[in-house]
Amino acid sequence: MLKILVLHGPNLNMLGTREPGTYGSATLAHIETMLSAWGEANGAHIESFQSNDEAALVGRIQDAPAAGFGGIVINPAAFTHYSIALRDALLAAALPAVEVHISNVHKREAFRRHSVTAPACSGQIAGFGPHSYILGLEALKTILSANG
Ligand code: DQA
Repeated sequence: MLKILVLHGPNLNMLGTREPGTYGSATLAHIETMLSAWGEANGAHIESFQSNDEAALVGRIQDAPAAGFGGIVINPAAFTHYSIALRDALLAAALPAVEVHISNVHKREAFRRHSVTAPACSGQIAGFGPHSYILGLEALKTILSANG
């Protein structure tokens, strides 16, 4: 069975109460329920992991190939904009990866327009609320089936 790792960076554990005008009212638990439902409907096992700690996220990316994951969907949150460590971990793991953002980062402050992690991914999806994660999973599924 296809295994997909979904990673969530810092402050995404606060979804639901965190800046609802920007991130909406869905909690991370709601999003994880959506991810599992997508997995069931698409014959994939989804593992979701959130951390405020860069090292923990780097560790999960490093371990992903040996743990049997076929690809990664990642919302690096603020790390998007400056974590060379996450970028390097994605390049080292060399699994297909899709970067997702809940908000449209291109419509916000200038510093959010730059992603250091997106160049280590197949592409980036931003601005569709929690549905960005589903679009990320769909994109990853397409990439993986094209890879055979
Ligand atoms: C975010 C956008 C980032 O700029 C921000 O730091 C986040 C969330 C998003 O999902 O819209 O924490 O990644």
